[in-house]
Amino acid sequence: MDAFLIKGGRPLHGDVSISGSKNATLPLMAAALLTSEPCTIRRIPNLSDVQFMGEILKSLGAEVTFEGDSVTIRARKIHEVGKYDLIRKMRASICILGPLMGRLGRARVSLPGGCVIGARPIDLHLKGLRALGARFTVRAGYVLGETKRLVGTEVFLGGRVGPTVLGTVNIMMAATLAEGTTLIESAACEPEVIDVANFLIAMGAKIQGAGGPTITITGVKKLHGAQHDVIPDRIEAATFAIAAAVTRGEITLKNCRPDHLGAVLDKLRETGVKAERRGPDLVVSHGRTRLRPVDITTQPYAGFPTDVQAQMMVLMLLVPGISVITERIFEARFMHVPELCRLGAEISIEGPSAIVKGGRPLSGAQIMASDLRASAALVLAGLAAEGSTTVKRVYHLDRGYDRMDEKLRTLGARIERVPDRPESE
Ligand code: UD1
Repeated sequence: MDAFLIKGGRPLHGDVSISGSKNATLPLMAAALLTSEPCTIRRIPNLSDVQFMGEILKSLGAEVTFEGDSVTIRARKIHEVGKYDLIRKMRASICILGPLMGRLGRARVSLPGGCVIGARPIDLHLKGLRALGARFTVRAGYVLGETKRLVGTEVFLGGRVGPTVLGTVNIMMAATLAEGTTLIESAACEPEVIDVANFLIAMGAKIQGAGGPTITITGVKKLHGAQHDVIPDRIEAATFAIAAAVTRGEITLKNCRPDHLGAVLDKLRETGVKAERRGPDLVVSHGRTRLRPVDITTQPYAGFPTDVQAQMMVLMLLVPGISVITERIFEARFMHVPELCRLGAEISIEGPSAIVKGGRPLSGAQIMASDLRASAALVLAGLAAEGSTTVKRVYHLDRGYDRMDEKLRTLGARIERVPDRPESE
């Protein structure tokens, strides 16, 4: 296991190239299961989760070849049994369920794992696929699905919780090969859903309305191979934007699709951070003014993303005054809070809200990453803190950030990857 050793207090300056979106790449790879012809996905990020997805697809019988920043998948002959241990490791592995049901009418996948941020059930995925005619049983940790033929219908994915991103993608993928027309109501509107829809359309699917709350899919008999460039990772971009603010520096985010970052940029500007669009790039700087605290509530897209909540909390810690950060998507997503408190932060949790008393200087300490986005927040806190910070268990970060330490070093950060010493745990 690796750790990061960070010597904080240095402003970050320069250009950073934003990698392809993890949350788009994983379902895009799963979508390749829908055809026996080869599919190539380009601009994929170099991440352990992407390698995992490759392993999962191979365990289903697909040929998977990584080359540079592309992956080619050929699912000539596949079977329905996903490897229990592989799938358990990653939440996004649930998105093989839709393609398997669409292509084979059978699936046997273990209940997915991933970041420990609340219960994260899959009831909406199953509800949607059931509406299309699939039958499911859950036995010994496996979800077993079968159907003779999926038939298009109306599927409502809202209700108790907000729309589900991977649930929307799963139903959309399965419906491409269903008989007749499927209407997904209360669909997730995230850019990653649009990206997957665009790939499916390139494969021959008939899809309208992705990116809005109603998606219409008219089933076709067969899909064919296609090539696709993944959209930039809006969460990585937001993290580097906040890195510029917390280190009082200036970073140009190259090729980051600023139009996918609306809510984050709005909050950054409200606090006083400067963010200027230059075509596909974005220049973010602290601006040297006194920043103001802002309240934040996470919401489905186009609201403030839950995946940026922890990083934004670090910025609020550095701004004098009180800010309230409310988490509305996941119920246990404040695991970074006790670790930030080790650095001297004053944060109290009241129900779904964290009350942040900002303006106290942070000082380096040894802290432990608990999930992917929490790890990114701890790294940002280490960059802003005085002295040395060790962030342990950075494998969480390697799951979702493409060479974050290298990218930060090119911006002037003093950050090193060091072996994690077990005796100090
Ligand atoms: C995706 C992202 C994740 C992001 C999340 C919300 C990937 C690989 N991951 O996760 O980074 O934080 O969207 O933007 O794309 N829910 C149910 N039942 C279900 C499905 C979801 O109750 O069947 C609940 C979840 O527990 C959560 C909410 O719905 O409270 C939204 O979750 P969802 O959008 O499904 O998250 P993911 O798609 O898993």
